[in-house]
Amino acid sequence: MDRKQHWEQVYAEKNAKEVSWYQAHPEISLELIKTSQQKKGIIDVGGGASVLIDKLLESAYQNLAVLDISAAALRIAQQRLGQNATQIQWIESDVTQFKATEQFNLWHDRAVFHFLTEKSDRAAYLQVLRNSLKPGGCVIMAAFAIAGPEKCSGLDIVQYDAEKLLKELNGQHAGKFTLQEQVSENHKTPTGKIQAFTYYRMQRTA
Ligand SMILES: C[S@@+](CC[C@H](N)C(=O)[O-])C[C@H]1O[C@@H](n2cnc3c(N)ncnc32)[C@H](O)[C@@H]1O
Repeated sequence: MDRKQHWEQVYAEKNAKEVSWYQAHPEISLELIKTSQQKKGIIDVGGGASVLIDKLLESAYQNLAVLDISAAALRIAQQRLGQNATQIQWIESDVTQFKATEQFNLWHDRAVFHFLTEKSDRAAYLQVLRNSLKPGGCVIMAAFAIAGPEKCSGLDIVQYDAEKLLKELNGQHAGKFTLQEQVSENHKTPTGKIQAFTYYRMQRTA
């Protein structure tokens, strides 16, 4: 099964509130976005059916986009938002193949980059990141910590700590990224399991 099929099937078969990564209140993401002081031009990469976009709209953030490989995931978020969905740019794409037509101020990725187990996919993602983010812009990434789970949604992932992530981001000519802040989270899944995530707030400095 390819990537797209996997994710379309997940969102077709599961209730969006029952997937392991579900959060009713994406508090750490919201806090880090607030600290970044970027109020517009925000893309949630692999946002899926996350309510982060609802919260950003409610807080008057502007020029918002959600990208996801799964059309079914985007539909869930659109239906939930109703008329407000027209205020969001919805992008159905594999992030590694995304061609941005504008540059964003803030790139948010919770639990997407960590699925890229192939070096060539990570290189493609980082090229897209460089093309899509303004210099001086902010990247917020959340991934499973080194002591965290080894799989997500039944797929292998790569665990990260700050050193490993920064080495990845700065090692492939993808611009220069500086770590501003990191926050650990023990995410409780809907079935009560604890997953160790770390969030990284970084600035593109070149
Ligand atoms: C673990 S979920 C996280 C969803 C959301 N970020 C959150 O925190 O609730 C991973 C999401 O990334 C999407 N995804 C996985 N691989 C992707 C890719 N290569 N390009 C774009 N989206 C992808 C999936 O469809 C799914 O919505």
